[in-house]
Amino acid sequence: MAFLEWTNKNKINVRIVDEQHKKLFSLLNALHKATVNGEERSSLTSIMDELIEYTVYHFRTEEKLCKKHGYPNYVAHTAIHNKLTEQALELQQQCRVGSATISFDLLDFMHGWLVNHTTGIDKEVGAHLNKCGIF
Ligand SMILES: [Fe+2]
Ligand SMILES: [Fe+2]
Repeated sequence: MAFLEWTNKNKINVRIVDEQHKKLFSLLNALHKATVNGEERSSLTSIMDELIEYTVYHFRTEEKLCKKHGYPNYVAHTAIHNKLTEQALELQQQCRVGSATISFDLLDFMHGWLVNHTTGIDKEVGAHLNKCGIF
């Protein structure tokens, strides 16, 4: 069983967003697998870099959609994305300078926000976009 299992619960019913969320799930699963297998630090950090880079790209995609379609909680949602990005960048930095290894704490942090976000506030985004005819 994967570390993070994709189910219908994680779907927000907007194709581009669901595809990006799926990719985030699979990057996190790859990071988990590499960690469990005790792979070299350089390969762990490269997966982590890709995960964070793709997270930022995903947030911008979602925010553009929200803005374009007048999502009422655009500002608050963007602020949450920014906060998550800040936390992720901090962890990335700690891994780079060697003050922390990629640990299960980090995996748990990423796991927690991905599940909470896709089953929580991103669902509200999906509902709004669906009302605007975006699927
Ligand atoms: Fe979001
Ligand atoms: Fe999202």
